Amino acid sequence: NKTENQMLIIFGASGDLTARKLIPAIFDLAKGGHLPENFVVLGASRSDWTDDEFRKNVVTESKHLANHVDGPTKKVMQDFCDRLFYHELSSDQDSDYSPLKKRIDALDNEYGTGGNFIFYLSTPPSAYEPIAKSLYEQGLHAETNGWRRLIVEKPFGYSLKTAKALNQALQQYFKEPQIFRIDHYLGKETVQNLLVTRFANSIFEPLWNRNYIHHVEITNAESGGVEKRGGYYDKSGALRDMFQSHLLQIVAFIIMEPPLNANAEEIRNEKLKALKSLRIMNDEETLHKNTIRAQYISSIIDGKKVKGYREEENVDPNSTTETFAALKFFVDNWRWADVPFYVRTAKRMPTKVTEVVIHFKTPHHQIFKDSGLQNKDNKLIIRIQPDEGILIKFGVKVPGQGFKVERANLDFYYSSLVENNIMEAYERLLLDAMQGDATLYARADEVEAAWEFVDPILNYWATSDAKVYGYSAGVWGPKNADDLIDGLGMWRNPSK
Ligand code: BG6
Repeated sequence: NKTENQMLIIFGASGDLTARKLIPAIFDLAKGGHLPENFVVLGASRSDWTDDEFRKNVVTESKHLANHVDGPTKKVMQDFCDRLFYHELSSDQDSDYSPLKKRIDALDNEYGTGGNFIFYLSTPPSAYEPIAKSLYEQGLHAETNGWRRLIVEKPFGYSLKTAKALNQALQQYFKEPQIFRIDHYLGKETVQNLLVTRFANSIFEPLWNRNYIHHVEITNAESGGVEKRGGYYDKSGALRDMFQSHLLQIVAFIIMEPPLNANAEEIRNEKLKALKSLRIMNDEETLHKNTIRAQYISSIIDGKKVKGYREEENVDPNSTTETFAALKFFVDNWRWADVPFYVRTAKRMPTKVTEVVIHFKTPHHQIFKDSGLQNKDNKLIIRIQPDEGILIKFGVKVPGQGFKVERANLDFYYSSLVENNIMEAYERLLLDAMQGDATLYARADEVEAAWEFVDPILNYWATSDAKVYGYSAGVWGPKNADDLIDGLGMWRNPSK
């Protein structure tokens, strides 16, 4: 694919995401030789910085960049910094956009970026619409000389209603193909590999259905707490922050039908159909039985006291926002009828891990009855992160008399593909957007379908007296979450 000359304009340039993820990702693209010859970044934000201050700040804020200031990559770093510019802007001030346009035009002329602009909205969501509108009013949406793209960060909406309103608002100013809704999990190699595992092999897909799969389990655990994002998180919670976006994207890749080909629209059509087949939980009894929320409470980890969620900075001391969410749900279609899906996501778990476990049914006729094979069903474990890879668990005979069966592992690690330098999620997604490839970006209808599933759960939690359980920071969530998966053994808790 060709990457044309272009300019990337980042709104919210003095923010955390820009320094932590975006600029390092662009630097890695530069280092890997992926940037076009003529390319500049223009950061726009409220801080009153010069170009040089912006350059210094992004380098000092990012450990990754700081590592390249000296040594063999010094020259790449210097050239990279020369391409960074900064413009002071209050995104809610209409009058600030005409000077911004002048600055963009001047840089475009001077650096030959061909009138191709990507606008990256890395701001609080309330600014998305006003920025899109102001860009439109300055004519910066129109693809008269060069193309224009808009990348929108998550969270995309706060509910189904607000997501719909945001889609409508953005589509007033930009056309749908110009809008790239980012979900950084789609940039992860292992998430994309779900499609390859399923559709580039003939050994998995014939088993990938209700006839052979007993249940599916997904765990997304983080060892960290809410860190400095208490203000945002307390209004959001685990279900909005992780499940509505990242985890439902993973679910869609697991349950979708094979697309006709690997084009953006074909894949997204199938994902949409998949998301629409999630059984919406809209009665109290099911919501009560199949959803669990909890919050971490303070505890001692490695000899140090860790704060409870309600003691975190900018969190309401009476907050009911969940830092742990576990759901059981079904997919109403031919392939998945009656197969339960168990998904949990949480902060302050014993370790950081994301994995999908496909539990296969036990053989329907047990020949080795006394062998201990029961409960030793075949499992396919897809490790999304860390230790990216795929593990298959299957039964083997224990050497010796009789037929004792033990479980053995077939284990593949991505790291064994040494020749492959795995791109970081933001790096991959930015490069895709620079090339106009929207395959790994969420389409408006997909985002709405995800909200449609999540909305009734959020409403139930907000309006009922559904209990908010507590769990000590550093354990695998509340005991009650085990009831959800009752009868199937336990959640699989990957070790550190
Ligand atoms: C973000 C959430 O989208 O994803 C964060 O807002 C979360 O709360 C992060 O920590 C997790 O991403 P990753 O790539 O570290 O699993």
